[in-house]
Amino acid sequence: MKVVAINGSARKDGNTAILLNVVLEELKKDGIETELLQMAGENLQGCVACYKCFKTKDCRCANDKDKMNEYIAKMREADGVLLGSPTYFSDVTSNMRALIERCGFVGRANDYILKRKVGSSVVAVRRAGAIPAFSSMNLFLHYMQMIMPGSSYWNIGIGRDPGEVLKDAEGIQTMKTLGENMAWLLKRLHG
Ligand SMILES: Cc1cc2nc3c(=O)[nH]c(=O)nc-3n(C[C@H](O)[C@H](O)[C@H](O)COP(=O)(O)O)c2cc1C
Repeated sequence: MKVVAINGSARKDGNTAILLNVVLEELKKDGIETELLQMAGENLQGCVACYKCFKTKDCRCANDKDKMNEYIAKMREADGVLLGSPTYFSDVTSNMRALIERCGFVGRANDYILKRKVGSSVVAVRRAGAIPAFSSMNLFLHYMQMIMPGSSYWNIGIGRDPGEVLKDAEGIQTMKTLGENMAWLLKRLHG
């Protein structure tokens, strides 16, 4: 069993990565393989509405100039997907938005490639706007027909500078509980 986590932050190894890793550590304790992919330094384009994915139906985006098809392939191979984004102006980053649009269309065009995989998301935030970011990712995961475990609160960690989320004890506990629930669900689906 494998879970792939994708960090939409422009900062490698920042607060979002920390939150994702807390979830992944819980999964590892249950023997689940994990991989963290970070989008920092990339400039992923949004969907250009070419609709080629609906013609080719090859589970790929026609735009091969960036790493989007690698992300799509990694998600396809995994049993579970964990998305993470910091809050940027009360929503996800543009790289995470690009993934939602392009993987969303490729998914739809190919009979829902992520259907019935386990899917969840986490958000880092300094102060406000985390819920719209959380909703953007969760709306995508639901549309892809994925099965979503919850936690003891919404999956949000508070902090601005890298590392600050570690001071948010409730946020860290929320991530641990999410990891436990994700592992519980994966084992019942695939164990
Ligand atoms: C362009 C930009 C926009 C941001 N917008 C918000 C915002 O709307 N609300 C907020 O609370 N924090 C905002 N932040 C702060 C980040 O969400 C916060 O620092 C977060 O911990 C960053 O996570 P990271 O270390 O994974 O990049 C913004 C940061 C940047 C760079």
